[in-house]
Amino acid sequence: MIRSKDPNIKTSIFAVMSKTAKEYNAVNLSQGFPDFGVSEDLISLVNKYMKAGFNQYAPMPGVPVLREKIAEKIQKLYNYKYNPETEITVTAGGTQALHSTISTIINEGDEAIIFEPAYDSYAPVVRLNGGRPVYVRLKYPDYAVDWDAVNQMINSKTRLIIINSPQNPSGKVFSEEDMLNLIRIVSGTKILILSDEVYEHIIFDGKTHNSIAKYPELAERSILVFSFGKVYHATGWKLGYFIAPEKITEEIRKIHQFTVFAANTPIQYAIAEYLNREDEYLKLPEFYQKKRDFFNAMLRDIGFDVIPAGGTYFQTVNFSNLTDETDFQLAERLIKKFGVAAIPMSSFYHNEENTKTLRFCFAKKDEVLEQAAEKLGNFYIQAKKQLDLFKKPENH
Ligand SMILES: Cc1ncc(COP(=O)(O)O)c(C=O)c1O
Repeated sequence: MIRSKDPNIKTSIFAVMSKTAKEYNAVNLSQGFPDFGVSEDLISLVNKYMKAGFNQYAPMPGVPVLREKIAEKIQKLYNYKYNPETEITVTAGGTQALHSTISTIINEGDEAIIFEPAYDSYAPVVRLNGGRPVYVRLKYPDYAVDWDAVNQMINSKTRLIIINSPQNPSGKVFSEEDMLNLIRIVSGTKILILSDEVYEHIIFDGKTHNSIAKYPELAERSILVFSFGKVYHATGWKLGYFIAPEKITEEIRKIHQFTVFAANTPIQYAIAEYLNREDEYLKLPEFYQKKRDFFNAMLRDIGFDVIPAGGTYFQTVNFSNLTDETDFQLAERLIKKFGVAAIPMSSFYHNEENTKTLRFCFAKKDEVLEQAAEKLGNFYIQAKKQLDLFKKPENH
């Protein structure tokens, strides 16, 4: 028999919801992937490199031309120069970069601070390596960070602070003030920072992304994680990278080389060439903001209160004024009775806190968003009717 490394790990909520959505033929706004195509030009480039014979192992840290292009991009956007030879490593998606990083840094008894609601892959890897996730809750409704609370959590065991901006699932974007607070909190300590920046280009309302790379005093103790899946609507290609100072990179590469050894070759070459087209990623904020606004306008027309996401392709909606159900119960009923799938926000909290909030992915074609809104409209009408039935008649 196998002794489970972590009996708490269940099948991911994304897999569960997507499977149920399929069974009930529901519009699937649960799992976070775009339903629009990858650029034909980029596909042709992958094809070109495959046909030209770039089909064998890439160098362990990634093909040099891609690492050079990444270094150029980071310098242009965030004004920090990383060495492509020693500080940039291409991985099989952001997930592998996160896994290799946490596995390198966390040892038995170490603590890692995680902001909740949180993307679901951090805590299990901390635990797998004998560490303890320590949770700090972002404050609803704007998911603000309580930096005094963070300060109080810090002790001699704190090894890592994991941040994610723009944040999945809340859509929160770290402000300049947040970053300055982070500097204040870690200065004089040996704490490292893991900064998950996979949504760096999906940020709205004229804000710019506060990458760790903009803050040299943070960059020198940080590992930054990125994903081409999010940038090029190609989540299935599983290509990403991490960036960190040389000494930290050296250690993470030791784990990386025995996890995948190297990421796939032809896509690395194709993306290296495609990165010359800066407009392809610089246009993403506008592209996704249009989607967010289109979806939110329909939700508001129906009657929902919506606080627009500051970034990512996720929108959260609170249902507490419409139903007494838990978010999990509501998510199930929405799929089975109304034909639309979302993720209950409770799944992003370690204690499955009932937030009465759902997360919708709006990286979908407009007609799919319209179908989802229509179904949510049906739910809203029924929920309101139900509430009216239980309302006390006045003057009686
Ligand atoms: C916050 C966050 N980090 C990392 C990842 C994983 O990136 P990848 O698909 O490149 O493995 C995701 C994917 O949804 C994400 O939302």
